[in-house]
Amino acid sequence: MSPDFTLLFFPELMQSPMITFQATLCVLLFTLMFTLLFTPGGLPWAWARPRPIIPGPVTALLGIFTGSTPHRALSKLARNYHAEKLMAFSIGLTRFVISSEPETAKEILGSPSFADRPVKESAYELLFHRAMGFAPYGEYWRNLRRISALHLFSPKRITGSESFRSEVGLKMVEQVKKTMSENQHVEVKKILHFSSLNNVMMTVFGKSYEFYEGEGLELEGLVSEGYELLGVFNWSDHFPVLGWLDLQGVRKRCRCLVEKVNVFVGGVIKEHRVKRERGECVKDEGTGDFVDVLLDLEKENRLSEADMIAVLWEMIFRGTDTVAILLEWTLARMVLHPEIQAKAQREIDFVCGSSRPVSEADIPNLRYLQCIVKETLRVHPPGPLLSWARLAVHDVTVGGKHVIPKGTTAMVNMWAITHDERVWAEPEKFRPERFVEEDVSIMGSDLRLAPFGSGRRVCPGKALGLASVHLWLAQLLQNFHWVSSDGVSVELDEFLKLSMEMKKPLSCKAVPRVSV
Ligand code: HEM
Repeated sequence: MSPDFTLLFFPELMQSPMITFQATLCVLLFTLMFTLLFTPGGLPWAWARPRPIIPGPVTALLGIFTGSTPHRALSKLARNYHAEKLMAFSIGLTRFVISSEPETAKEILGSPSFADRPVKESAYELLFHRAMGFAPYGEYWRNLRRISALHLFSPKRITGSESFRSEVGLKMVEQVKKTMSENQHVEVKKILHFSSLNNVMMTVFGKSYEFYEGEGLELEGLVSEGYELLGVFNWSDHFPVLGWLDLQGVRKRCRCLVEKVNVFVGGVIKEHRVKRERGECVKDEGTGDFVDVLLDLEKENRLSEADMIAVLWEMIFRGTDTVAILLEWTLARMVLHPEIQAKAQREIDFVCGSSRPVSEADIPNLRYLQCIVKETLRVHPPGPLLSWARLAVHDVTVGGKHVIPKGTTAMVNMWAITHDERVWAEPEKFRPERFVEEDVSIMGSDLRLAPFGSGRRVCPGKALGLASVHLWLAQLLQNFHWVSSDGVSVELDEFLKLSMEMKKPLSCKAVPRVSV
């Protein structure tokens, strides 16, 4: 501001040193307020040190995670701010960055600086900070990854559990037939969820349950309550002062659930201990369950009982809904695209003939079926924001210029990437053929499609999850034509809870195809 300008418009400011001081103070305060109120990303970015200038909305996005499609809202915002590479935003006191572009996403997920996860209150209360998914990056977490890679997710283990997986698939087929004969239509969600739960239970606990009765029903209830608690948006996570009040009752419900889980999972561990004392424990690495593996480690004083419960409980959580939800979306697509369904069935018939049930050994030859699963993962990724975010463990530079301060939550909007026309041609179109034309790896090396995440914390259950989805989809397609129910349309609206579910669960007809 020139002295002439000041004299002309604010003559009183030039009158005394005291007034000049006050004016300077006013200007400073105004500048400070302006900076605080208009910092890209919102207020928590204003006092961040270092303070990068990353594009983003200046107002806090209070409601963003309370809506049903935050991945869509964040994608739109990133476009509006030309911030696909990196966008800053905030909720309450929490600073976020989100990437909607493959290169920056890869940098974030691959960097050891983002190898921690922010632990929300519900995860903490449900003891998940002692399990693999939320454990801080360090020796304890590394140990859990090593143990599970060796004993739960190794190719040998996955092959070893093939016959049970196939049995689960056949039971699912029976359940679909039964429901169809009773109701003339089938809501697949419950059947898929229970089957997936049973499958994980067998792998982890060495135990399976009957549909909708006894212990199976109790377990289903515990898992559903846990999903809800982990999926709910909890204001206390972003406004710590509210943590005291527990206004949404999340803490209270978590504590109540943890007590029940301790009794249930503690009971399963006890059963294993008793069996071992009687010398009945399965020692074969290919077929023994994960509880036995952990109990063997316990001898060497590796995991406490509480830690074991947390680790086992988490596996049930992570392994169940993702698989069931992916299958539900795939079947919905089969109903909507009869020509794609028919092509997959022709492939199954070609590989298996007309009288042999499809088995896991056939999957490598069912290339088109695999492409259908890939395309479903692209269009409807179960974790559109890659489910569980990452946390910057120290100040870290991203994209060569933005220094992200320690404690910032980093996310990748996988949904935005897989729906970006600059990355995928005609992204809204469901076209499995795109993967026949170009073989894209979905295991985390190519961030154009990384539904299982990438880097150190990539999903360890990806091969097991895919094996289940491929086999069950093949069994369901071999046995039924999936068609829409009279007067009931298939709606593709989404609802992001812990995973991205169908807002209106799929209800359709399963018409028996061949007798195999
Ligand atoms: C279609 C199936 C599945 C999908 C789409 C999926 C997706 C994901 C994603 C996106 C992550 C976060 C990765 C990251 O931060 O980079 C993750 C982590 C994880 N998943 Fe999966 N998942 C699936 C199946 C499974 C199964 C079957 C299990 C186990 C039985 C499992 C266990 C885990 C665990 C323990 C983590 C945390 C890993 C860590 O933080 O070190 N997932 N999953």
